Amino acid sequence: MGPLGAPTMQTSDFSAPRETMSRTGRVMAKVLEAGVLVPISRTLEWAGGWPRLMGKMPKPADFGSYLPTSDDVIVCSYFKSGTTWVLQMAIQIAHRGDAEFDNIHFAIPWPDAPPAINHRIIPLNNPSPRQMSPTGLRVIKTHYPAGKVPQADAARYVAVVRDPKDVCISGYHFLSAMMGKPFPSLTTWVEIFLSPEFMQGCWATHLASYWSMRDKPNVLFLTYEEMKADTSRAIDLISRHMGVDLADEERQAVAERSSFAWMKQNTSSFNPGRVMPWGESELSLVRSGNVGSAKTALTPTQRERIDSHFMARLDELGCDFPYRERYS
Ligand code: A3P
Repeated sequence: MGPLGAPTMQTSDFSAPRETMSRTGRVMAKVLEAGVLVPISRTLEWAGGWPRLMGKMPKPADFGSYLPTSDDVIVCSYFKSGTTWVLQMAIQIAHRGDAEFDNIHFAIPWPDAPPAINHRIIPLNNPSPRQMSPTGLRVIKTHYPAGKVPQADAARYVAVVRDPKDVCISGYHFLSAMMGKPFPSLTTWVEIFLSPEFMQGCWATHLASYWSMRDKPNVLFLTYEEMKADTSRAIDLISRHMGVDLADEERQAVAERSSFAWMKQNTSSFNPGRVMPWGESELSLVRSGNVGSAKTALTPTQRERIDSHFMARLDELGCDFPYRERYS
């Protein structure tokens, strides 16, 4: 039974094959990690080659010729900016607080997913999320800047932005769990994050692309920090933007299921699974959920470096987002 006492609502007909690894495969992967990849990584770190290597990661796919429709709610956030949180709010709103899935990626397409996990994500052309949604709305995830996301007046876009210093720390924890021991030090990670070759693209370019669209009626622009300060308001803004009028108990169910405590307890429904054969299988997209973790995790010099780097990029882009006021 769902939280509202009715049979739970499934959200799609997609499921990914269960991935298992033999004991021998796991031992071999661990040997590869410790015996080959760690020494290569340390040498690369010494030679300053990590940023270039990260820039050479396989490129994700894109939306192809897909033209979004009035049924689509596209959550557009930079990586580690609260994407999964907003996806959960949006899918619960679409299902009136009663969306059930084994994994959120079985119900929400992500056209630009990394190639290694693409097969575990529902394709964009699977019609079941729309068909199984009581509001007829389906949610789509993307980390791409606006220029790489097809724009349609009928579709709704929710843009999410977070302090890049907290993005940097969140990304460090996530990717070091994903890549295991070969992952470089935090000092090198800061260089990777600021490098023009960074595989996720530039934080400032992403922000500027959505900031310039924030007054369009089909665009809702949110920051992680505002959502943390007033989550109820964020739920109201998103449901209004999606055109879904929630009854009180439905709204409560959306709030409960998108709370940090609930998502942490149900973390396996959000986790993307093992990416590297030697890496962790319980890669969690729900970690500490705090604003300002970079204050203790980064040195004052690293924080200033990130702030001045992105303020300069925003200036070059002619973007008037109030960075100094909000994040420095
Ligand atoms: P931290 O690593 O700082 O804890 P994304 O989904 O874009 O990868 O973002 C992940 C970040 O969102 C993580 O930040 C994660 O903890 C945070 N997050 C996930 N669910 C959340 C929730 N319900 N409330 C607040 N933060 C949440």
